[in-house]
Amino acid sequence: MRTIDVTDAAWGTLLALQEGLADLEGGADPVTRVYGPIAGAKGPFVIAQVGQSLDGRIATPTGDARDVSGPDGLAHLHRCRALVDAVIVGVTTVTSDDPRLSVRIVEGRSPVRVVIDCRGDLSGGEGMFHDGGAPVIVFQSATAPPRTFGQAEVIRLKEDTCGLCTGAILQALADRGLQRVLVEGGAKTIARFIEAGHVDRLHVSVSPIIIGSGPSGINFSPIEFLSEARRPLTEVYSLGSDILFDCDLRSNPVLGRQGEQVSVANPT
Ligand SMILES: NC(=O)c1ccc[n+]([C@@H]2O[C@H](COP(=O)([O-])OP(=O)(O)OC[C@H]3O[C@@H](n4cnc5c(N)ncnc54)[C@H](OP(=O)(O)O)[C@@H]3O)[C@@H](O)[C@H]2O)c1
Repeated sequence: MRTIDVTDAAWGTLLALQEGLADLEGGADPVTRVYGPIAGAKGPFVIAQVGQSLDGRIATPTGDARDVSGPDGLAHLHRCRALVDAVIVGVTTVTSDDPRLSVRIVEGRSPVRVVIDCRGDLSGGEGMFHDGGAPVIVFQSATAPPRTFGQAEVIRLKEDTCGLCTGAILQALADRGLQRVLVEGGAKTIARFIEAGHVDRLHVSVSPIIIGSGPSGINFSPIEFLSEARRPLTEVYSLGSDILFDCDLRSNPVLGRQGEQVSVANPT
């Protein structure tokens, strides 16, 4: 399995690519394959990323999610944040973790922070409204009680049967120049974006711990048969402490035997 080893030079090239100051040279090296599509996206691009345990959990039943990913999985998450314009989370992630959603482990700028708070569950006391960090945008239903959250912009959308339409959320962000988007969690929020067909890449980073109980990383609507399961073209890399499954959700794999859509690149 090939390892993603992001040297300072490679990271500098990715940041230049993000700024439009470099071109993507279709390299086959792991760093270019994994991060190039995000940094080099010329139009709308949505990546979802999940950091999970060996048994597919993202937190304990009491909501402790801080150290699910190992140090290299965390660095990968921060790289993804640094390469996008906006990072989206659901309200439960904010009320349980009070995350900063900033870029701290790698060089790069922090993305605009976006919270989907359909019914108006935020208290306004959450750290992101007071930490002086990147701007915050809150999406709420047009029927939620009108509120302000410090300097945050509140965008009110009409609710449909699926809650707030993920396409309308992405369009509102694109209207503000935020086209590269990371959907960071939790499971319900990621599922809504994937089920609506809005996610280009899914990164699942697996850390070698077993939690044994607690929420899983993605919660789709139930299916009856495994033949209905999604089998995206997937490349597998070592991040060091964690293993990364890089799934291309735009691919339409022609399947032979189960697992043939997965490629584990060997060191050259
Ligand atoms: N390890 C990781 O990578 C990671 C990352 C982030 C979060 N987490 C963990 O995940 C857990 C939270 O996950 P979760 O799945 O319970 O919650 P979540 O996805 O953070 O938030 C779910 C809430 O957001 C609402 N929501 C999301 N998208 C919506 C939309 N398009 N329209 C309307 N409402 C929308 C949901 O509404 P409904 O109630 O109507 O569905 C629900 O109230 C926490 O324990 C957190 O620590 C882990």
